Amino acid sequence: MSETLTIALSKGRIYEETMPLLAHAGIVPKDDPETSRKLILDTNHDDVKLVIIRATDVPTYVQYGAADIGVAGKDVLLEHGGEGLYEPLDLEIAKCKLMTAGPVGAKEPEGRLRIATKFVNCARRYYAEQGKQVEVIKLYGSMELAPLVGLADFIIDVVDTGNTLKANGLEPLEHIADISSRLVVNKASMKMKHARVKKLIDQIAEAVNNRK
Ligand code: ATP
Ligand code: PRP
Repeated sequence: MSETLTIALSKGRIYEETMPLLAHAGIVPKDDPETSRKLILDTNHDDVKLVIIRATDVPTYVQYGAADIGVAGKDVLLEHGGEGLYEPLDLEIAKCKLMTAGPVGAKEPEGRLRIATKFVNCARRYYAEQGKQVEVIKLYGSMELAPLVGLADFIIDVVDTGNTLKANGLEPLEHIADISSRLVVNKASMKMKHARVKKLIDQIAEAVNNRK
C-alpha cells in the first residue's frame, strides 16, 4: 500500500460542494460527517483519508503537513496568509464576496473607525491601503450584531445573497474581494507525493471544468 494521502475539509457547504468533485476523482468517504462523530473519515481507498476540521483551521493543517491537501475559502486563505501552501486550483464553489457593511444609510463617524470582524488581518490591510485609522475588534461569528449594539461602526464579513445583512438592518458597502474555495496543497507533499497529488489535482480540475 502506498503512503496515505490526507485531505482536510470543513463540514457544511465546503464538504457538500467538494464531495462531487472528489467522487469524479474516484474518492468516496465511508462515513458522513453530519451524522458521524469521527474526525478522520476512511474512504473507498485505504490510502486516502479525510480529516474534518473547522474551516479556519484548514490552511494550518495543510501548512504543517498534517494534511497533504485541503479545501479552504479564499477569505480564510487571505486571512491566513498562505505560508507553506500552494493554491493550484479554484474550485469555483462556495462563492461569495468579502465586504464591509454597516447600518443602512449610516454616515461614517469622525475619527477612528471601529471595525468588528473575524478577518482581522484582512481588515488591517484593507484600511491601511485606504490610509484610514481603524480599531479592529476580533469576533468569532455573528458579526452583524456588532453595529446594532454599538460594539463597532462597521463589519467585514462574507456576503452572498445579502439576506443576513438585510435581516439585521445592515447594507453591504465596499467590495474587498471575490471569494470562492480553493484547493490548497502542502509544499513538501507537492514534491514528495508529486505523482499522486498531480493526478488528483488534474481529476478535480476536470470535474470543475465539466460543470462549466
Ligand atoms: P468556522 O466554522 O471556522 O467559523 P465558517 O462558519 O465561516 O468557519 P462555513 O460557513 O462552512 O465556515 O464557510 C466556509 C467558507 O464558505 C467560507 O470560508 C467562505 O469562503 C464560504 N462562505 C461562507 N458563507 C457563505 C455564503 N453565505 N455563501 C457562499 N459561500 C459562503
Ligand atoms: C455566512 C456569513 C454571513 C452569511 C452571508 O454565514 O457569515 O453571515 O453567510 O450570506 P448571505 O449574504 O446569503 O446572507 P453562514 O450561513 O455560513 O453561517 P455561519 O458562518 O454563522 O455558520
